[in-house]
Amino acid sequence: MKEEKVVEKKVKIFIGDKEVIPVDSFKIQGYVPTIEEIEQFILDSGSDDLPTFGGSFCGGIYLQQVPSEFASCIKAILDSGVEISSYLEIGVAAGGTAFIINHFFHPTRIVLIDDNQHPKTKYRKEILGDISTEQIVGNSHIQTIIDSVTAPFDLVFLDGDTGYDSTMADIANYASKLVKGGFLVLHDTANKGQGVYQVVQELSKGQKFALVGEWIASTGPSCGIALFRKEME
Ligand SMILES: C[S@@+](CC[C@H](N)C(=O)[O-])C[C@H]1O[C@@H](n2cnc3c(N)ncnc32)[C@H](O)[C@@H]1O
Repeated sequence: MKEEKVVEKKVKIFIGDKEVIPVDSFKIQGYVPTIEEIEQFILDSGSDDLPTFGGSFCGGIYLQQVPSEFASCIKAILDSGVEISSYLEIGVAAGGTAFIINHFFHPTRIVLIDDNQHPKTKYRKEILGDISTEQIVGNSHIQTIIDSVTAPFDLVFLDGDTGYDSTMADIANYASKLVKGGFLVLHDTANKGQGVYQVVQELSKGQKFALVGEWIASTGPSCGIALFRKEME
């Protein structure tokens, strides 16, 4: 009897005429994850501190974001269809936020500024070890640091010193490096009357940015996160 030769065939996946590599579902171009999928990935990645940020366990990427708030913000950016090729984050600590942003948006350029004063900074090397980043160590208000950060960015995430003056200074110095239609994220917006809360009120009334959304968890811990879009004009 003639033996049949079995040829192993790898299944190819195409979106349009483009072949994609299914590393995992979020990496398949064109697929926008649901808010539940985004939140689950964040929960599975680990929290810096359960009483402050919530989450399912302490450790992993030591993320300092409330999962439901961060997931809503990520979903809004993904739904906009804007490609996030370049990302700037001020206030990085262990690198949890940068890890999550990289996972969902795959920016080709990631610039991180941090003064390395946070005790969890020691985990950053490992957490961001597989991700290509430009890391600047120092205070974001130092002029040489401001000058060294070259525009443009599609997304700027402020999570450093959350005082009013400091946040306003970071907006003036770094949100100015956003492309028109680029996104600005502010963290720690929930504390009424203070720092970033006040900044959100003012920015919402101004002409330079439009408020896309603000998310403050209604159950469990809340920090508040606000998403603005730089006006197109
Ligand atoms: C809240 S943590 C950042 C958390 C991080 N984004 C995350 O979600 O995991 C704030 C970080 O910003 C740093 N920091 C505070 N003010 C800063 C400034 N003006 N310039 C640079 N880094 C700053 C702190 O040392 C700390 O590492």
